[in-house]
Amino acid sequence: MQNAALEAFDEKLARAHMRGQWKSEGFLSAAIGGPKPAGFPGKWTWADVMGLMDEAGAVMRESQQARRALMFHNPGLQRGATHTINMGVQMIMPGETAWAHRHSIAAIRFIIEGNSALTTIIDGERCVMEDFDLVLTPNWSWHDHHNKAEKPAYWLDVLDVPLVLNLNQTFYEPGTGEDQPVPGADFSPHARLRYPWRETEPLLRSAMLDAHDGYRHDYLNPATGGPTLPTLSCHVLALPPGFAGAPRRRTASAVYFAMRGAGTLEVGDQTLSFNKSDSLVVPNFVRTRFVNASNTDEALLFSVEDTPVLKALGLYREG
Ligand SMILES: [Fe+2]
Repeated sequence: MQNAALEAFDEKLARAHMRGQWKSEGFLSAAIGGPKPAGFPGKWTWADVMGLMDEAGAVMRESQQARRALMFHNPGLQRGATHTINMGVQMIMPGETAWAHRHSIAAIRFIIEGNSALTTIIDGERCVMEDFDLVLTPNWSWHDHHNKAEKPAYWLDVLDVPLVLNLNQTFYEPGTGEDQPVPGADFSPHARLRYPWRETEPLLRSAMLDAHDGYRHDYLNPATGGPTLPTLSCHVLALPPGFAGAPRRRTASAVYFAMRGAGTLEVGDQTLSFNKSDSLVVPNFVRTRFVNASNTDEALLFSVEDTPVLKALGLYREG
């Protein structure tokens, strides 16, 4: 039974723009079991994405400043694929340029169908984008994309948009033309922006087998020895034939792109089957388990996680 004097006092506090800690008791006790997963597990098939991308190419003839990117919207969230990560697929037509801009949002590109004449220029550094290469766009770096080949190019876009927006730290600056400004005298180059697949694959092949992720390679920033970006870490996983992963629950959220092969990802009470070029979304604090039922073919997956943010804040947990 509520104490009438306390109720009156709560109202008095409210008029003074204060609130007793005791009013938050329900909020805190609801968190005894840990965080509530934000949004739903999700899958976007390559066939669906390509069908709609063909239409996007027809209705949006020029990419220019606004990129021709289809971003995946988790129906359980206001925005984003997870509560911290945006994910989608971008297409650039033959001969096309996506004009320069920069923003405090950081991004990575993982190339699905690239070529030697496909480039992103990042703060003056020219990064070629061939199949399965990883190219980083650290926050506030100028970037423009150019496809000088005669076929369309596709890549995975992953950004920390929901995180940066929720922290209310959004800055944006458009370029004044197709190309970005030339870096000035005070410019310090980035440690590493491009991770070619031909260098990554041998590192994956020398990785130890992990009970949860199969063979797993973590992309590293050579300047820090830590993750690729302060907000997003990138990984590649190889699930060998017959792999039945151990289940795991982490406070991190993650997105996956199937590079080769097929398999299933159990996420909470759902089982998502995936084939080549499908995309998967795993909310925070949901139990997951990978299975590759094939007797002959491995499954390769690229992934991006928000783990670096949680580790930096001392909030990462797994078990
Ligand atoms: Fe951008």
